[in-house]
Amino acid sequence: MEAFVKPQAGAGDRALDARWYHAPDVYAREQERIFARDWICAGRTEQLERAGDFVLAEIAGESIIVTRGTDARIRAFYNVCRHRGTRLCTQPSGRFAGAIQCPYHAWTYALDGSLTAARTMADVPDFERAGFPLRQAHAATFEGFVFVSLAPQPEPFAQAFAPLIGRFARWHAGELRTARTIEYDVACNWKLVFQNYSECYHCPLVHPQLDQLSPSDSGRNDLSEGPFLGGYSELRRAGAGLTTTGTSARAPLGDIGGDDLDRVYYYTIFPSLLLSLHRDYVMAHYVQPVAPDRTRVTCAWLFDAAAMAAPAFDASDAVEFWDLTNRQDWRINELTQLGTASRAYVPGPYANAEGLLAAFDRHYLRQMR
Ligand code: FES
Ligand SMILES: [Fe+2]
Repeated sequence: MEAFVKPQAGAGDRALDARWYHAPDVYAREQERIFARDWICAGRTEQLERAGDFVLAEIAGESIIVTRGTDARIRAFYNVCRHRGTRLCTQPSGRFAGAIQCPYHAWTYALDGSLTAARTMADVPDFERAGFPLRQAHAATFEGFVFVSLAPQPEPFAQAFAPLIGRFARWHAGELRTARTIEYDVACNWKLVFQNYSECYHCPLVHPQLDQLSPSDSGRNDLSEGPFLGGYSELRRAGAGLTTTGTSARAPLGDIGGDDLDRVYYYTIFPSLLLSLHRDYVMAHYVQPVAPDRTRVTCAWLFDAAAMAAPAFDASDAVEFWDLTNRQDWRINELTQLGTASRAYVPGPYANAEGLLAAFDRHYLRQMR
């Protein structure tokens, strides 16, 4: 594993030009070159426990059905009927009763996507049901998260995610359960959310309550180039926790011990997930662009399943701490969206503490060119 190093900006590293945050043609190109190609986080396997359980994901303007088959495999289908193209499913999540049926003329698909019934079509010369399965996208799972790629031939997941595979094993994140989610509609470009998450230069001003518990200059990174970036920040006091009480009575997750007890790890998983790993909980931000100046961010708080089952379990200390921190971030990101739209905006130089932003920009620009 890589060593942890202090963030460092290069000479001449500057913020992105305004067009990357505002231009509709940039947004359209991102949808094609990034969101319709990369592995995009589409939720948690805990939402797909039984055969027929499904969630809808919105990826690159497409509605995608993610569901578990009777063979336990998780698959992703375009939400498009093979008859005349009608959207099949409109519920955001639920359970199919063994099959997916189109509301228009009742063509019916098995959970593996094959067309099993098409009313009266046997009378049509040369019609073969086998020729009309649901169009499929690629699906993979990692630490309990489901990822989908719309690329016809994506980079194999294990290869694309090699820098992350095994890295979070000691949190046992795959076994955690979501205790709470909060959805935010943020009036800024999705990249500002990623960039803001990647530096704590702003923390003393924007997050006084966070700065009290975790020094803003304690960040050390072990992933500082490529699609996945991040490292840890330290807690000021041994045994502290990023919660409204500044501490936590919850037991450490999985195999967490030693230095990890007094650190919080923060990673960006380009282009759809921010992962924060605490001693006693994991937080995920699912990031979804909606427009050049609009981003849907869904924040989820994940805890140990057994701890959650206890009658006294209460996630509110972590949820409230981060709900406040999130809102502070969205507010400042919205102000950056406004300011970068000005005729007066000229990209300024990154601070050393913003070294990961330069790396994010490099990876982003490589994808776009
Ligand atoms: S459009 Fe789906 S059955 Fe006709
Ligand atoms: Fe922040």
